[in-house]
Amino acid sequence: MLRHLIDIHDLSVEEIAALLRLGEDIIAKPGDYQDSAARKKLATLFFEPSTRTRLSFEAAMLDLGGSILGVASGDSSSAAKGESVADTIRTVQCYADIIAMRHPKEGAPLVAAKHATVPFINAGDGTRLHPTQTLTDLLTLHREFGQLHGLTIGLCGDLKFGRTAHSLIAGMARYPGVHFVLISPKELTVPDYVIDLINRHGATHEECRKMDGVIPKLDALYMTRVQRERFFNEADYVRLKDSFILTPEKLRRAKTDMIVMHPLPRVNEISVAVDDNPRARYFDQVRYGKFIRMALILYLLGKDIKE
Ligand code: NCD
Repeated sequence: MLRHLIDIHDLSVEEIAALLRLGEDIIAKPGDYQDSAARKKLATLFFEPSTRTRLSFEAAMLDLGGSILGVASGDSSSAAKGESVADTIRTVQCYADIIAMRHPKEGAPLVAAKHATVPFINAGDGTRLHPTQTLTDLLTLHREFGQLHGLTIGLCGDLKFGRTAHSLIAGMARYPGVHFVLISPKELTVPDYVIDLINRHGATHEECRKMDGVIPKLDALYMTRVQRERFFNEADYVRLKDSFILTPEKLRRAKTDMIVMHPLPRVNEISVAVDDNPRARYFDQVRYGKFIRMALILYLLGKDIKE
């Protein structure tokens, strides 16, 4: 059956558990998977800037023995001539077996999936969703804590526009006993639909404007950058951009096994002095991102992962 990934909730909790298991297995035995997608092609269509997401998708497909083709910016494809998402997808699927697309418009992945006759993956749409970053984050948390339930996750920074934060909340809210600590300036709080989602799944949350007092209760602190490209005016961005800067001093009161995560790119929100701190996990996330995308590609191409 043809499957797409637009929203992390397109995958059941059981499917996510199976993908995490497969990701772990690929990390342990990468050689076993080097031909698993031989003769298959992945198209990456990135109509918004990206380093990690696009390259990790491409590295994932190459490490599975497949090949890649794609566009790395809107300017270099017919999107710049006004081609619709639907027509782009109809075209690209003549050449590729699976497609990953990043698009500035919320909802573009839904249009794409409606027209897709090959598996379609949302690699980030506007301010809304980024399910493959969430899979990366879930793998990171799972490797660290051995489970996902019962964790207290602090999310800090631009919780209004940051799609990685919205997606991670959606991904984690389904696990029992999860508590979110939402740390942001008043102007950058999470949208109401995200709060509704937390409540609907029976997770709990609190909101605050400062990180210092809440750090001791966190199992993970997920820092995010202020999303400059989503602001209507530059003055607001400049006023808010340095609202939070994580330093080693701030981490002194954290639990001993607390971890610091970030989807990257980082701008100023984590001081480089934190990079050597044993809690820093953001470059591990980058690494795990390739392995979980390998697992996802295999699953969407039809691998039975429940074995
Ligand atoms: C993020 C994104 O594009 O949403 N980056 C990523 O995919 N790892 C985060 C960001 O741009 O702030």
